[in-house]
This record gives sequence, structure tokens and C-alpha cells, in this order.
Amino acid sequence: MTQNAADAASVDLLAIARRIATDVAETALEERRRGISVAATKSTPTDVVTAVDRDTEERIRAMILDARPDDGIFGEEDDTHVGSSGLNWVVDPIDGTVNLLYDIPSWSVSIAVVDGPPDPGHWHALAGVVVNPVTGEVFEASVGGGARLVDARLGERALRVNDDVHLSRALVATGFGYAAERRASQAEVLVSVLPRIRDIRRIGSAALDLGAVAAGRLDAFYELGLNPWDHAAGALIVREAGGRVGGLGGAAESDRMLIAAAPSLFDELAALLEEAGA
Ligand code: IPD
Ligand code: CA
Repeated sequence: MTQNAADAASVDLLAIARRIATDVAETALEERRRGISVAATKSTPTDVVTAVDRDTEERIRAMILDARPDDGIFGEEDDTHVGSSGLNWVVDPIDGTVNLLYDIPSWSVSIAVVDGPPDPGHWHALAGVVVNPVTGEVFEASVGGGARLVDARLGERALRVNDDVHLSRALVATGFGYAAERRASQAEVLVSVLPRIRDIRRIGSAALDLGAVAAGRLDAFYELGLNPWDHAAGALIVREAGGRVGGLGGAAESDRMLIAAAPSLFDELAALLEEAGA
């Protein structure tokens, strides 16, 4: 495939991802309005899953298989579906499930299409969409096609990360895992980071954090322990908005660490995180 053909295919894949994500976002919002409760817990008693998470992933899977029957699907709430095309859809049906449960309007549907295995160190992201069903905002990107924020009321605008922000003036978001030991070490890192930056935000949806970095609403985001579906779409959106995404010591982003920032801020933040013992 030539680069132009690949870029054109990415635009088509983005259109499918956008249609699916915005469709299920409506249904998830209706379910939220009817009221929801915890259906089960996963890794720890605070790592919850609701019927909305499960129903949304089921709908997404059915719509992907209908549109792209040969592709694989790698999602948070169900087993991996192995495809034959080499493309994989990486799905977080609801990112920010605790916010959904408490009706805090910062949860999202995140869908990415990647070329290669469902492993961020080895895949090549082609298209990604993150939808906030409550605000109706759609963050999206296709590889080589730039990143956009589509808002039903305000229209569409190209996304660009904030550049030339010094670490001491940076508004940085992070997140915490569900296991107590992990939280304790994340809190220790934060103790060293907080005095060296403008302030910290903990929004509660990594996918929305990444959309916010792309939109210049945050200067940077970092988190240790994310799953691939938390950042597959958001990382592409940040890169297409001119940002840099990676891990520590020049590594690719992984469950070990993900940092997203403008290229001018990335190294400084990575050095601070290393110094802080991340
Ligand atoms: C969580 C959110 C949260 C992050 C956690 C994730 P979930 O995803 O992205 O912001 O801090 O690490 O697990 O459980 O709501 O899909
Ligand atoms: Ca998630």
C-alpha cells in the first residue's frame, strides 16, 4: 500500500470509528439517565464494571464486525477477537467508569484502529476517536490527517498541543490505578512532582486526559499502569496535534509509563518523573 492509500484508508476507518463511537455514546447516555449500578468488580473492590460498560462494548463489537468482518477486536470487557486482516480495533467502551457511576460528566467511549498486534509497542495506530457522551465533544484523528475536536454546538476545530510551556508553569494531569500498593507509589511520585509544576488534575478518564492535552486544555498527562485500550485512540490524537507520547528513557508508551506533552516539555517532565522514582 502506498502512503497516500494508507492515509485514505485511515480516513475511511476514522469515519467508521466515529459513527460507531457517537452511536453507542447516545445509548450509553440514555442508560446513564435511567440510572445505573455496579454489576461486578474486577481487579479490586473499587475497580467496577456496570451494565453500561458491558452493553456498550457488545454494541461496539457487533457494529465493528458488521462493517469490518475480517478485523480483530481487543476490548476491555470481553475476550480478544482474532481477525485475519492484520488490523485490530482497540476498544474502551467506557473510560472513566467511576465517573459514570457517580454521574460526573467526564467519561468517554474510546475506539482506535491499529495496524499490527494489540500491543502499543508494536502497533501502528491508524485512526482514533474519543467521545464524551455528556458534553457531546468528539476528539478524533487519523494518521497523517491531523486531529480535530468536533462539537455539535461550537463546530469543528483543528487541535494543537500547547508549546513553549515551562515545566514550572505546566498544568499536568495524571491518574491512579485500582490497586492500593500501586496508588501508594503513585502518591509518592506525586509528592515530588506537585511542587515543581503549576498544578495537577485528576479527571478520571485517561482517554479524555489525552484529548485535553491535544486541545491545549492541559499541558501534559502521565500515568503508570494504563491498559492499551485506555490510550490507543488518545495517543494518536495527541501525536496528530503535534504532541509527543512515550514512556521513560526513550521507551514507547506501555503499562510501565505513558507521558503525553508538547515535544518541548516532554523530556523535562520525563526527567522529573524519573527523579521522583516513577
Ligand atoms: C481508568 C481511567 C482512569 C485511570 C485508570 C483507568 P476505566 O479506566 O482511565 O482515569 O486513572 O488507570 O483504569 O477503569 O474507567 O476504564
Ligand atoms: Ca479505561
